[in-house]
Parts: sequence; structure tokens; C-alpha cells
Amino acid sequence: MNKNYIVADKWSIIEDVFDVENVKASESLFSIGNGAMGQRANFEEDYSGETLQGSYIGGIYYPDKTRVGWWKNGYPEYFAKVLNAPNWIGIHIEINKTNLDLNLCKVSNFRRELNMKEGWLSRSFNATLKTGEEIQVNTKRLISIELNEIGAIEYSVKAINFSGEITFSPYLDASIVNEDSNYDEYFWKILQVVDAENNGCIYAKTLKTEFHVVTAMEILLELNNKKINVLQETKIEDKSLTYTYKVNVLEGDTATIYKYGSYVSSLNYNNDELLDASLQNVKEASLIGFKKLLKLQKHSWAEIWNTSDIIIEGDVKAQQGIRFNIFQLNQTYMGTDARLNIGPKGFTGEKYGGSTYWDTEAYCIPFYMGTKSSDVAKNLLLYRYNQLDKAIENAEKLGFKNGAALYPMVTMNGEECHNEWEITFEEIHRNGAMIYGIYNYVNYTQDFEYIPKYGLEVIIAVARFWHQRANFSKAKNQYVILGVTGPNEYENNVNNNYYTNYLAKWCIEYAVDCLNKVRDSYSEDFERVIKQTNLTGEETLEWLKVAENMYFPFSEEHNVYLQQDNFLDKELIPASELPKSERPINQKWSWDRILRSCYIKQADVLQGMYLFESEFSKEELERHFDFYEPLTVHESSLSACVHSILAASIDRMPKAYEQYVRTSRLDLDDYNHEVDEGCHITSMAGTWMSIVQGFGGMRVCVDGNLSFNPQIPEQWKSYSFTIIYRNQILKIKVNQSETTFELEGTKDLQIKVNNKTITVVPNNMITV
Ligand code: BGC
Repeated sequence: MNKNYIVADKWSIIEDVFDVENVKASESLFSIGNGAMGQRANFEEDYSGETLQGSYIGGIYYPDKTRVGWWKNGYPEYFAKVLNAPNWIGIHIEINKTNLDLNLCKVSNFRRELNMKEGWLSRSFNATLKTGEEIQVNTKRLISIELNEIGAIEYSVKAINFSGEITFSPYLDASIVNEDSNYDEYFWKILQVVDAENNGCIYAKTLKTEFHVVTAMEILLELNNKKINVLQETKIEDKSLTYTYKVNVLEGDTATIYKYGSYVSSLNYNNDELLDASLQNVKEASLIGFKKLLKLQKHSWAEIWNTSDIIIEGDVKAQQGIRFNIFQLNQTYMGTDARLNIGPKGFTGEKYGGSTYWDTEAYCIPFYMGTKSSDVAKNLLLYRYNQLDKAIENAEKLGFKNGAALYPMVTMNGEECHNEWEITFEEIHRNGAMIYGIYNYVNYTQDFEYIPKYGLEVIIAVARFWHQRANFSKAKNQYVILGVTGPNEYENNVNNNYYTNYLAKWCIEYAVDCLNKVRDSYSEDFERVIKQTNLTGEETLEWLKVAENMYFPFSEEHNVYLQQDNFLDKELIPASELPKSERPINQKWSWDRILRSCYIKQADVLQGMYLFESEFSKEELERHFDFYEPLTVHESSLSACVHSILAASIDRMPKAYEQYVRTSRLDLDDYNHEVDEGCHITSMAGTWMSIVQGFGGMRVCVDGNLSFNPQIPEQWKSYSFTIIYRNQILKIKVNQSETTFELEGTKDLQIKVNNKTITVVPNNMITV
């Protein structure tokens, strides 16, 4: 059963009842961030119920020592974890000396709102303490997009039925641990606790990785909207700094505390600049003031929405779902720093360690390309370019040579840090996604220069990997790729995974194609890269032998490519026949049973057909969809979006819609029963694609032009989306009878709509 407690609203995520059962889930759903840092929606005041405390800083991680049963050569030494950073949001609150804790008092009129249009989080409620005092609380919190090292809190307490004392004790707490630490270690070392008046900080460094981080706060108080000076008591402990302010109130008075917080780190400063920078940040924030910061925040989000909003008319839940996805993607990654990337849970939880997966190239790049300047997607590519040496080292460790690269399945700094062998060693398909990301970017932006300048080195290294990883089978008289795990992680150590073999072949062919183009048009770069890589014509001919003679398992009987060798030995029973009580199988079945079964976690053969759709006829797509989708249990968040897009492309709108609803409200309705651990950020980009590529049918054609094949679910009145395409903004609106295109820019744009070419002229709406 889905937890369905979020109130439907076009622009906000709203919870209007306080239920301890939902606290952890809401902490994930109401998370806030700005691409550089983020935090779960933990309460500011104490809370003794179940909670997962989480504040994270992009790029600050710890190499948590691997825990495995039996060590094997090649295992990664560590699993990188984005660190739970010192908490700056906390405020202990006492009413006449009784602590405020929502787990221990009567709560009414509770309302929590995440306003996605303006980028803030609020809470309001009445609380009656065991001692009888009733208060009304209003809080608002933001993490600034504009000043991306700063966050701010406004916290007001109104005395409803008493006169007495309200005590605010704002604190910084660095005694935080990661819930998923392998050996329950503490990952920080505290270097200094600094206290100045109303303003202080904690200077800490991470163990092993030696990132230096300063967390600062500055406090201001008001009584009935007037600034007050209250004597501050200071408590400094090993790992925390607490200020206490006692405010005397009369019945009806409202006391407000403003808390400004900041993180600065050695990623962006020299160590000796950190203390000053952090204290200056919070000083500056308090001078700007909460209201002005809020105004700036509204402005920043208005700009973001201008090029990324999707409007759905006639379905509030779908509207809320898509905006939630777009909002969270922006909170996770802004694209200004090529050292950062998109963790599958973003800043909303600890699972997946905040590391980078193939999700970025296979799912996220189109979203950032379509809604932001092309530098953003380019930064994502440069992230991998900058890690090429490590990918080559990684391949060497596994026995590859001659500059072959194997990009990690999971990484922070380019080193592999996943420690399930089935994934580390076997899920090599991710190497293909690295190249697909480049191809996709160049196609969309026409920034072909990226290839001679950066991409080609990566493309060559990956082609070398595939050439060495395949082997010639005498029995088949073809090249095979053995012992892999495909995108469907419910199979391990299979031979000839169709998707992997397809990508290997494609990567080699694309490499040769790029080499030819670079040789012809960028001779200087060509020479540089050839010299650097010692690549010869003979070597590329060897690569091509593999590509041209690659084996693909195929069933004559079903007329479909098989997910892997011997797939048909399995009992093929549709997933719809599985009892509900046994779903999700990854929580109900033994791993052994899963591996033997035919059930598919997420698109595998169909993932390939999605990426290379133009290479397949519609009949082929239909046949494969009908064969594989019924066996798919969609237990990865990445599954529904691909199926939605494919279903739309073969005109199966009800199926496309069903899968769309699943992907867009996966977290809001907690389909996978795990939202308390964090949201599924990377699949949110898939949701965006389900609208733009799925219903909108947008593709970049071989000739480089955009094409559309718009369809609309019958449940909707209309939907519209915006894309940035080669420095112009194209707005598309689809309703039940027509589609309109509007171009903001200076140059005419030729596009294809339902296979007919039309020209869109700037500032001149065109209806089809
Ligand atoms: C999926 C992978 C994905 C990872 C992180 C897993 O459940 O099977 O494909 O990379 O989650 O999102």
C-alpha cells in the first residue's frame, strides 16, 4: 500500500497532519538544497521520535573501509560516503523550562510546506506541552541559491495561554555520524570551536580525506517583530557550541529567533581562510536579513523555472509530481562546478553514498542539457574527462592494458568504490554510458569541438576496453562478452548480455567515426591525441573486427533479441501473476530465487532500444516491449521512465501514462516503500524525459534537427514544456487537439512535427 498523505497542490508539497509514522518520509520529501549543499527536513527543535538526521556538503566524502566476507583481488578498498556534516539548523526550545519535542506533546493545526516556486520550507503548528502551556510555532527555512554557502531560519513562538519564559538554545553540533557507517566510526576531527558574540563556528576536518570544513551560525532575536538584545549564555563542548537566550513573554507575545548558517570548505578556500570566510558569511546573511534572502531566493527560483517548468493542466497530482522532480534535480546539481555530480539520492539521504553512478550519463544529462546552458552538461562530461587517468588505473588493476579505461560503477574521485563484485567487476555496461553521454551532448548542442578537445581521449580508452574485454568464441565464430551483469541487476555473471554487447559494438564504431572526423577537421588535436595514446591504424582495425562480428543472442521462436544466453531456459511467468504479498521481490525473496527467476529489475534489452531507438523499426520495438515488459518488476527507480517513453513511442498511451504516474510520483506516493531513506533523484531526470521525449516525442534526428511527435494522455487537458536548444528557448504546448511552438531567440528554427518539416520563427507562435 502506498503512503498517500501528501496534499495535492500545483506548486507545493504539503503535509497537513502530524503523524509520527511519516516523520522520516517527510524528512526526505521536504529536503532542501542548492546544488552545493543540502539537508533533510529535520526539525529545528529536539525530536525524540524516529528520525534520520542529514546535512550534506557536495564533494565532501569519507572513504569508508570496505566490509566483505572474503577478500578477492581487485575489490575496492572503500565505499565513499557523502558525510553527514555538522548540524547548523538545531535550536533547543524550552517553554518555562520544559523542552519542546513534538514526540512528547499534543500537536494540532500542523502544516508543513515545501514551496517549490520560491524555494523555501515552512512549518506551523500548535503544541500543548505536558505542563499545559500552549504555543503556536511558525518556521521558515531556506538554503540560498544565490549565496550558495548560506542557509537561514526564521523560527517564531507565540505564547497562547501563558506568560513566562521562552528559551532558545541555537547550536552547532559536530558529533554527527553516518547511519550507514561500516564500522560505526566517527568520520570527523574537531580542530577548533570559535565563539564570538551571537556568532560562532566549529572548524573540523574529515579523517583520511582531510577536507576542512567550517560550520558557522549567527543569531538575531525579536519580540513582537522588534529586535531585542538578550544576554547570551555560551556552552562550548568538545563537538558543539550552544548559545542560550531567555526571552520573557506575556500571553499573546511572539518571540522569534533568526539563525543564519554557513558551510565553507577546503574545496573552495585555503585552510587558513576558512574561519574568516564562514563568520563573514553568516554576518553578511544576517545583515541582508531573512526577508531579503527570501526575496533573492524567489528570484533565483523564478529564473530556474523560466527554462525548466512543465505545466500540466487538468491533473493536479501529475503537476505536483513533475514539479517535485524538477525542483529536486535543481536542488541537487546546478552545474557550476565540474567536481560535483548527481548522487542517486542527492542530498536527501545517505544511501548510495552521494556518489556518481551511470545514472548521470544514461538519465540525467538530457534534463540538464534541455533546461540549462550547455556548460552545465559539459561540466558533467568534464567530470569524467578529469577522471580518465583513474579509469585507466582501474582497468589496469583488473588486468587490462594499453590505456584501456573502465569507469567505475560508483565513484567520488574516479576510483571505484562499490564493493559488490557483481556490480564492480561485472556491470561494465556503464562504460558505454560514458560514451553515450558524449554522443548525446554533441548531438544536442552541436558542440563538436568537445570531441577533439576532451572526448576523444575518453572514447579511445573505452574502445580499447571493449576490444580487450570481448573474446573470440570458436564455437560461435563470433566475439562474445562473458561474465557480466546487465542493467538488470537481478541476473549476475551472465554471458552475452544483449545490452552490453550492443553498447560495446556501438562504442567502437563511434570511436572510429570520431577519429575520422577529428583527423579530417581538427588535425592538430588529432596529432596530439594520437601521440598521447599511441594509437595506430592497425589497432583500430582490430577493434573493428570485434564490432563487426559481435554476437547477439536471438530467439527465432519469439523473434526477439535475448537478454542474455539461455534466457529462454527460465520459466517465463508474467510478473502480473506474482502474488501481491511477494512484491517487491527484492524484499520478499531470497537472492538465489531472484537470480533464477525471469524477473527483470529495470529496462535491460529495452534500455538499449531506448538509447538507440532509431536503429529499430516500430514493429521490433513493439515485439521486444511485449516480450520484456510483462516480465519486468520495475524495482529500480530507473525503470518506469524508460518504459513510459518506449510505450509512448509505440503509441501505447495508457501504458505510457501508467508508467509516467509511477515515475513522477515514485517518492511522493512512496511506491518502493523506502522514501524514508531519501528520494530517487536520478530517476527524476527520467520523469522529465517521459514528458519531453515520451509524450512530446522529442528527438534529435540524424540530420541534427529536432523532431516532435506529440501525444497527450486522455487524463490531461494540456501540458507544456520549455527547452533550451542551441541558445534559444523553445516552448511547446500540447492539448487534446493541437500543438503550439513558440521560440524566444533570434534565429528561425526548422523542426519536424509528425514527420513534416516546419519553420518556427522567433516570437511568432505556430500551431500544428
Ligand atoms: C540500479 C542501478 C542504478 C543504482 C543507482 C540501482 O538500483 O539498478 O542501475 O545505477 O540503483 O541509482
